[in-house]
Amino acid sequence: MKLKNYLAAVVLASAISTNAQPAKITVDAAHPGHAISPTLWGIFFEDINLSADGGLYPELVRNRSFEDSDKPESWKFSSGAGGGSTAAIDSSRPLNTFNPHSLRVNVDGAFTLQNEGYWGMNIVKGDSYRLKLAARVADGFSGPLKVKILSSAGAELASGEISGLDGDWGYRTLELTASDSDPKALLQISASGKGALFLDMISLMPEKTWKDHGLRTDLAGALDNLHPAFMRFPGGNWIEGDDLAHMYHWKTTIGDIDSRTPLWNTWGYNTTQGLGFYEYLQLCEDLGAEPLFGISCGIALGDKDVPLSQMGQWIQDALDAIEYANGPTNSVWGGLRAQAGHSAPFNLKFMEIGNENGGPHYAERWALLVNAIRAKYPDMKLIATSSLQDGSHPIEPRPDIVDEHYYETPESFMRRADQYDSYDRSGPKIFIGEYAVTQKAGLGNLRAAIGEAAFMTGMERNSDIVELASYAPLFVNMNHRAWNPDLINFDSSRWYGLPGYYVQQMFSANRGDEVLPVQVNAPMAEVEKSHGQIGVGTWNTAAEFKDMKVTAPDGTVLFQSDLSNGSPDWQKLGDGAWLVKDGALQQNAEKEFVRALAGRRDWTNYTFTLKARKISGREGFLVLFHIAGDEGRNWWNLGGWGNTADGIEFGDTLDRKPGRIETGRWYDLKLAVNGGNVKCYLDGELIHDVDCEKSASVRSLYACASHDDATGDVIVKVVNASADPLETKLDLSGAQNLTGQGTAIVLASASGADENSLDEPTKVSPKTEPVSFSGNSLTRAYPGNSFTVLRLHAK
Ligand code: AHR
Repeated sequence: MKLKNYLAAVVLASAISTNAQPAKITVDAAHPGHAISPTLWGIFFEDINLSADGGLYPELVRNRSFEDSDKPESWKFSSGAGGGSTAAIDSSRPLNTFNPHSLRVNVDGAFTLQNEGYWGMNIVKGDSYRLKLAARVADGFSGPLKVKILSSAGAELASGEISGLDGDWGYRTLELTASDSDPKALLQISASGKGALFLDMISLMPEKTWKDHGLRTDLAGALDNLHPAFMRFPGGNWIEGDDLAHMYHWKTTIGDIDSRTPLWNTWGYNTTQGLGFYEYLQLCEDLGAEPLFGISCGIALGDKDVPLSQMGQWIQDALDAIEYANGPTNSVWGGLRAQAGHSAPFNLKFMEIGNENGGPHYAERWALLVNAIRAKYPDMKLIATSSLQDGSHPIEPRPDIVDEHYYETPESFMRRADQYDSYDRSGPKIFIGEYAVTQKAGLGNLRAAIGEAAFMTGMERNSDIVELASYAPLFVNMNHRAWNPDLINFDSSRWYGLPGYYVQQMFSANRGDEVLPVQVNAPMAEVEKSHGQIGVGTWNTAAEFKDMKVTAPDGTVLFQSDLSNGSPDWQKLGDGAWLVKDGALQQNAEKEFVRALAGRRDWTNYTFTLKARKISGREGFLVLFHIAGDEGRNWWNLGGWGNTADGIEFGDTLDRKPGRIETGRWYDLKLAVNGGNVKCYLDGELIHDVDCEKSASVRSLYACASHDDATGDVIVKVVNASADPLETKLDLSGAQNLTGQGTAIVLASASGADENSLDEPTKVSPKTEPVSFSGNSLTRAYPGNSFTVLRLHAK
């Protein structure tokens, strides 16, 4: 996005003073500004971290269609004593062409087949579960099959029998009602005899689902409690896919579940597509959220693209998706929607083209898709993605909205609180489609939530241009954490929200209708002194490093890498492929965010010298410093941004210059770190001299205010980003009809590092208290690391 020197006509920007005056927030209640976008606060559902299968889509059986691999993954097979039964994947006569694999059991005596689902099946006493499976038999075997739900201790919770199997594929169902509860139950199928049994699509589903629309009740309820105004789906990187064969195509996700094509997900698992396009649209309707559908633009991860001349299918898919969602029942795709159970249109209005794409290849595909869509559906709001490299987006045809993504530290989010004040109001609207504090965040702590809240005050204050925003990612099955942090953490039966979950909820439940101008006078917050380990790393690049040495200011050697017996001194993080070769530490995986750390986390002043050489890939190397946590991203990035620049990243990009790393050449690198100051030398030449702490300093207070038309309330949202309580005077100038009564909803905790957990799900959650004041001013102490929503009532 281009930052322009633009000042909004209505003065909405917060004026910041850094002097030591007492903190003060002034709200101009007499001069409401622009309307707040009614779609501002939404959610982004991506099938990541087993959010769909193993999560919101409540199929209890894992690998129900035996498509996960060439082995019966997730199934435990055992032959009875003395018998010789065996089981293997079979593709000789599939159930249908969409699911080529089935399981063949060569029955010779007794056997059992067990499935524990996604780390245990949540079975609840008195609830019913529907078992459905496809089976056929051969060579003299005829069943029957005994079906049991067993507790993890082996107690029978429900059972039934399937008989009458024959030589043709046919479905059988059983209703199973649980006599007891266990969140770690399993499904067992057993039989005995001789011959062959073929099984496929073995499904066990709870009868109770959210609004009877097939989703896990507690997790859908957790979404509902966020009051989302829109839902972006189904990804993210997931729609891009690892390569052309693994891009997301919505047409393979509709219809009967056995005719949907399972697809390998870039987040490390096979998806059943049980949560398909129809179910997403239904979920949006049930949540009262506008659907915002993301389609593949014909570019897979790693910039692998579909030739322009072959983009026809992608264009047709986009057009047909709109017809499926909105078309009349006598249209081809609208008819299929009606057949699935929804005659009325879903009113899809927002469509995003691609994900995190940029550059000329994206611009060409954007134009093809947009021209075709606008010719047929001129009212569709089309969202372009912005390049991760330089923030640019396609210009022609003009996007209605541009999607920006941010994953940073709490402090860099605080600094972003003002960024939209100066955006060009004549440019496209903004969708902040993904944002989350991911660094210094633990598994999602209060401090991270405070950073997000500070940024969100700026989104609300600028919601004349920021039309939509959604945190990412939304869900994690805690047994498959492919990304951290995630807003809603769950296992088979429980969930908890991060402190940031409550920030999202507090903003959306207290949005207000018009912005009120706000001025904030506040001191700067204390910045934690920098310290930490050193490291080497790469981003989509293979490289090698040698002669790594760290010395103290007095010349004492603090660390000298000894690679004579491998690299035990180095802590490897990310999906790297490390080895020691020819005296160098080599990393050969072209993956993102790969690093190896060494040294101590209490180091503050040191000089780190090394040699580095690029082997292959898209960028150069990373030299890490002041790493105080595994997720830390403080580094000198050489050949970053697609091998175009050289920069210091310390929360933000603090210093960036053009730069390129050549393949095959050894470079001499030196980092002289003195507290917050870092000097970087490349082949003896000083490239960067940056005071990271000073550049990383933040204000203590962030605020926005609005007027709620329905209640007349003045709503003021206040973030105290400092570690200590801050007494602050709130002046509500021009407010004429306040009662002096109100409520304060306060999110705070003893420490910014505090987190929620399955055992303490609401440890960091908002508390509501009454507020009274006289006249138009209210002085209160906002706790350190807190977010407060004040609702001040009108007569
Ligand atoms: O939210 C997780 C991932 O982050 C998304 O898939 C991708 O769009 C972004 O890089």
